Amino acid sequence: MSFSLSPTHSMSEDEFQLLRDCIYAHCGIHFDLDSKYILEKRLSLRLRDLDLPTFYDYYHYLKYNRNKEQELMDIMDVLTTNETYFFRELFQLKAFSDEIIPELIKRKAARGSRSLRIWSAGCSTGEEPYTIAMLLSTIPELSGWKIEIIGTDISQKVLHQARRAVYGTSSFRSTEESDLRRFFHKHDNGYKVNDSIRELVTISHLNLFDTNRLTMLGKVDLVFCRNVIIYFDKPAKKRVIESFHSVLDDGGFLLLGHSESLMNISTQFTLRHFKNDMIYQKPDCFLAGGRR
Ligand SMILES: C[S@@+](CC[C@H](N)C(=O)[O-])C[C@H]1O[C@@H](n2cnc3c(N)ncnc32)[C@H](O)[C@@H]1O
Repeated sequence: MSFSLSPTHSMSEDEFQLLRDCIYAHCGIHFDLDSKYILEKRLSLRLRDLDLPTFYDYYHYLKYNRNKEQELMDIMDVLTTNETYFFRELFQLKAFSDEIIPELIKRKAARGSRSLRIWSAGCSTGEEPYTIAMLLSTIPELSGWKIEIIGTDISQKVLHQARRAVYGTSSFRSTEESDLRRFFHKHDNGYKVNDSIRELVTISHLNLFDTNRLTMLGKVDLVFCRNVIIYFDKPAKKRVIESFHSVLDDGGFLLLGHSESLMNISTQFTLRHFKNDMIYQKPDCFLAGGRR
């Protein structure tokens, strides 16, 4: 397949705005005028493949063609940024495994529960949910617990890679040699995650703005949503954070990327200061002497 580096079609400002609004309504990703060239370049290939003369025709296709939903789903593969790697943001992961998990174990055990559900929202090629599984597998107190880690993303292409679970060097920039030996085995030209880790993880397609599908997820104890909401504008961030709040169990935790915060977005969470990091928590009405 030939892959041209420069766009084959030019996009007017009007066309840019129509397409940008259409993409935003679908997935919350906000392209400003400076990124017109990116849209032009990435969508040019679709015009060529669909044999459409202008971006206006392509907009019409996205709005009215009977394949419009499939097309919107497909272009997520070229419009999303999927950068990720194992053991990303180590200080936060340390807070997760050394401080948050022991607290959750105590709280859940006191309520007679021995199960843990964790959602990696915007999991890209899977390094994040597998990292979570690796960390949990080293905690002896969790032996005999039912552990479920759900990795979801809007791009089918990255989910395919996540299910395959085979990785090359760029995924290991923050991985210790001992962890590589412990959790992976050589496969083709890379390393494959061991079955004992993969068994803990389910990979599914989910658009964070698809509220109907979100309700089917059920309650979770912890949400990892790192380096995802940076691509959204404020109203979109608010909508997604509101969804996390309803999906989280009382006292559950929300882990964002290190450059992300809930400032001016939500006051529904408490910012907890742990030794290793600061983490958002949904207030626990039970402990606060509230409704139960
Ligand atoms: C930069 S990656 C972050 C990966 C991982 N969380 C990390 O921090 O290493 C952002 C991911 O969010 C996904 N994403 C963006 N918008 C989304 C949406 N509306 N619903 C679900 N996933 C989305 C992208 O497809 C991409 O894979």
